[in-house]
Amino acid sequence: MSEVKKIAVIAGDGIGPEVVGEAIKVMKKTEELFGFQFEFEHGLFGGIAIDEKGTPLPQETLDICKNADAVLLGAVGGPKWDNNSKELRPETGLLGIRKALGLFSNIRPANVFDCLKEASTLKPEVLEGTDLIVVRELTGGIYFGEKFRREGASGEEAVDTCVYNVQEIERIVRQAFEIAMTRSKRLASVDKANVLETSRLWREVVNRIAPEYPEVELEHVLVDNCAMQLLRRPSSFDVIVTENMFGDILSDEAAMLTGSIGMLSSASLGEGSFGLYEPVHGSAPDIAGQGISNPIATILSVALMYRLTFGYHEAAQVIEDAVKNVLDAGHRTGDIAVDKSTAIGTVAMGDLIVAAMTK
Ligand code: NAI
Ligand code: MG
Repeated sequence: MSEVKKIAVIAGDGIGPEVVGEAIKVMKKTEELFGFQFEFEHGLFGGIAIDEKGTPLPQETLDICKNADAVLLGAVGGPKWDNNSKELRPETGLLGIRKALGLFSNIRPANVFDCLKEASTLKPEVLEGTDLIVVRELTGGIYFGEKFRREGASGEEAVDTCVYNVQEIERIVRQAFEIAMTRSKRLASVDKANVLETSRLWREVVNRIAPEYPEVELEHVLVDNCAMQLLRRPSSFDVIVTENMFGDILSDEAAMLTGSIGMLSSASLGEGSFGLYEPVHGSAPDIAGQGISNPIATILSVALMYRLTFGYHEAAQVIEDAVKNVLDAGHRTGDIAVDKSTAIGTVAMGDLIVAAMTK
């Protein structure tokens, strides 16, 4: 028996609770198969927390998260809160929780399921073998630098500044090397070192850390070239690490290789093994409460949790294989079904995945 792992569950709004429910079923199945022990503690978060507690991120929810080994998050938001002031918007809770938990990287895998290749806008032969991870720095760069307006020589000007310090670069680069070590040991560091000073510092830091990981094959790629190569030969990448804004854009580009938002998982990590895991999609108010949402993004987020926080690689593989087998057998939720009349619901998809899980 392994030690008890504490999981903070913050399901949120809209389809959040539906998809998280299926992910927990999958976790319980791994308790059975592998002897893991999880203790789930639920917290209010997002719009529902605003309604019940007057704030999107109540202190007790934050305490549950801080006490946990990992956080499983659904999604937040909905039209009901769209016109609220900033402090009373669900999305403010998302920024708040990342900050309070010291999460400085966002990790998004993009792997192409063979049977869904036809759904992508790219040619199937280009997508063949695509299985990559984008590691994006979350707390620095131009999004957080000083911004202001001023009167210039020829009228109004706007200024955004991009700042990175060595420590911020080091911690994310180390994390990316560590992740590369658990995969096929290839790392692409993406920058714009031919133009930007922050990128030149980035590259220096990467080169300084690289000798600590002699097994990892490192390449430096300029961001514009990376954007092209992602569409031309995505399978050439394994782990990509980059700064905040480049990562924002490249992770969305990489996401589109796989076609559907209902399939995309993500992790946000801080120091150590603690992490927050969530689907990339939002609360999908247009389909909430109908039982038709796709739970796979959240289920694959659990696989990511097993790999990155717990080192449960075998169990992660069991989950990923089960998802693949269910899709290969032709089962689809509405978002990924070609013939919508054959689509199955959220719970049916979760049940099929659980049933397909074997050691
Ligand atoms: P969304 O991702 O919620 O939905 C976009 C489209 O994809 C919708 O048509 C939706 O039905 C569909 N979709 C999303 N997830 C799906 C799933 N699992 N299965 C089947 N279909 C799915 O993005 P949208 O509509 O821009 O935002 C809705 C709300 O979610 C907003 O309040 C927004 O602020 C919030 N949001 C929250 C996020 C989070 O909690 N991390 C991230 C993105 C948006
Ligand atoms: Mg984005």
